[in-house]
Amino acid sequence: MVVIKQGAEAKLTLGEFGGKQCLIKERFVKHYRHPDLDAHLTKERMRAESKTSARCQAAGVNAPQILHMDLNERKIYMEYFEKSITAKDYINNVLPKVSDSAEREQRINKLTGEIGTCIGKMHTNNLIHGDLTTSNILLDPLETDDSSFRDYKLIMIDFGLSSWSQSSEVKGVDLYVLERSLLSTHSGIPNLFNSILDAYKAANTGNLTEIIAKFEEVRARGRKRTMVG
Ligand SMILES: Nc1ncnc2c1ncn2[C@@H]1O[C@H](COP(=O)(O)OP(=O)(O)OP(=O)(O)O)[C@@H](O)[C@H]1O
Ligand SMILES: [Mg+2]
Repeated sequence: MVVIKQGAEAKLTLGEFGGKQCLIKERFVKHYRHPDLDAHLTKERMRAESKTSARCQAAGVNAPQILHMDLNERKIYMEYFEKSITAKDYINNVLPKVSDSAEREQRINKLTGEIGTCIGKMHTNNLIHGDLTTSNILLDPLETDDSSFRDYKLIMIDFGLSSWSQSSEVKGVDLYVLERSLLSTHSGIPNLFNSILDAYKAANTGNLTEIIAKFEEVRARGRKRTMVG
């Protein structure tokens, strides 16, 4: 059995469905939770994962095709992007190898532009990711032998905490989660979030002013909390 990742929440292994290679995401039983609550939460997350994946695709945002779901075994079978890497690995391991600084900057702009556009499309369709981090965004190379990822398709993954909501505040919080995670994961590149936000604004067609106001409100509350300790 090929294990792709063993995380705190789930184990990802390679498997097969309908004669095709796929990825199996199996959520662990959490023994510190009451068994009924744990079973309930796991099912909610699996349903959210499969629903939002399909809704993203309908909205023109790339996401894995969900092939099969086994609620009792806690397994989701999904499309596997074999050559992909996470945006986190791209920023941390691929970009530093680009020696030309102008090209590096161009690549950062392309990436932040695409991420902002994706999130903008999701929010326009009232799809809230719930856990926006660079580990939950994949780059799938267009040319299979392109190990430097010159051109790629962006794919959103990990929708266990996702939801459908029209609320500007919920969208603002989604953006705030991303900002916080970028600040901690990619502190060396300070403008990532602002460039993502620029592209987001260009792609989001609904309630933009209100979403940004809510985002700033949530951020101010966060700052205050940090100051008070
Ligand atoms: N469809 C996929 N194709 C290729 N790689 C994937 C795919 N889905 C996930 N991965 C890889 O596995 C990692 C973990 O997947 P995922 O983010 O879904 O789970 P998780 O973060 O452990 O779970 P959760 O946040 O739901 O508890 C990703 O960061 C990515 O590297
Ligand atoms: Mg994840």
